[in-house]
Amino acid sequence: GKSGYDHYMIKEIHEQPRALRQCLRERVDEMAGTVDLDDLGDLSPTGVQFVACGTSYHAALYGAHLFREAGIPAQAFLASEYATSVPPIGDALVIGVTQSGETADTLSALRAAEKRGARTLVVTNVVGSTAARECDHAFYIRAGPEIGVAASKTFSSQLAALNLLTLGMTQGDDTREVINALRELPGDLQRILDESSAEAVAELYQDAGAYFFIGRGLQFPVALEGALKMKEITYKHAEGFAAGELKHGPLALVTADTPVFAVVIGDDEKARKTVGNVKEVEARDAPVVAITDGQTDVHRYADHVLQIPETHPRAAAVLANAHLQLLSYHTAAKLGRNIDKPRNLAKSVTVE
Ligand code: F6R
Repeated sequence: GKSGYDHYMIKEIHEQPRALRQCLRERVDEMAGTVDLDDLGDLSPTGVQFVACGTSYHAALYGAHLFREAGIPAQAFLASEYATSVPPIGDALVIGVTQSGETADTLSALRAAEKRGARTLVVTNVVGSTAARECDHAFYIRAGPEIGVAASKTFSSQLAALNLLTLGMTQGDDTREVINALRELPGDLQRILDESSAEAVAELYQDAGAYFFIGRGLQFPVALEGALKMKEITYKHAEGFAAGELKHGPLALVTADTPVFAVVIGDDEKARKTVGNVKEVEARDAPVVAITDGQTDVHRYADHVLQIPETHPRAAAVLANAHLQLLSYHTAAKLGRNIDKPRNLAKSVTVE
């Protein structure tokens, strides 16, 4: 049941700290500062191709970024596009990301890769799913069952799982730092769930014409996911953009009727460039909501701030996403939408 919550989705949003703990347990040796992937055998890929759909594709974009940071060529593909022009695979590892393990497009892409002799691995929530049975290796995210059609806790757990995968497969310089950030993540997430002012922001902007989400680097998939969740459960127009792409077209859409949600983490050059993009939308009178750890002066250009604590940017992505989940949920609730079963959508998409 819904354990007193109005919808499965909000219940599952609140289950995230526990889901993350489950994902990390048994894989992370905190004393040694290492990640144990022994059950997956010897995986030291020279390259990685991700295939996935929807929310899982956003997780795959994040995962590809992590591999590239570790010096391994990696790319994320929409599963439905992958098979239309299978890229040269060489001896790359092909990783499917699929909550259900049953998504037809993702299964087809994995089969196309396998047919060309690729090694395959699936990151999934469902033990015994088709993808888990068909791939050479399965990495279970252990988020527990997700009933709401819109993916929430499985996305956070996918991000955590992709951190474990990269840490276990590559020699990153900052392994210890990432492990520490992951360990603090469930507690930090709990505080955001308890204290987020996303519901008040939802109330203010529930009648907006459209919602835009921007982010750079690791926070770009967060912007895409923020927009997908918003359109799925509110039926309102929402788009996520790489912050740097705004001025290449989308800026024409920005008005006082289109709130812009900007994810700004850290205070490096990337973050400062995104603050520059925020100034551009602010100058067009768009309401600005900054999802930020407060390390830049983005608050000066923002109408509202959804605060996250200072942490590793990889963990920050999960925390920023939690605010955006609450934003979409509360907007949909105020609009009286069928949150757990949005029109036209199914939990598991078993046709191509
Ligand atoms: C979004 C959503 C869908 C799924 C997509 C892939 O909230 O639920 O976009 O993410 O259909 O599903 P899986 O992960 O089961 O392959």
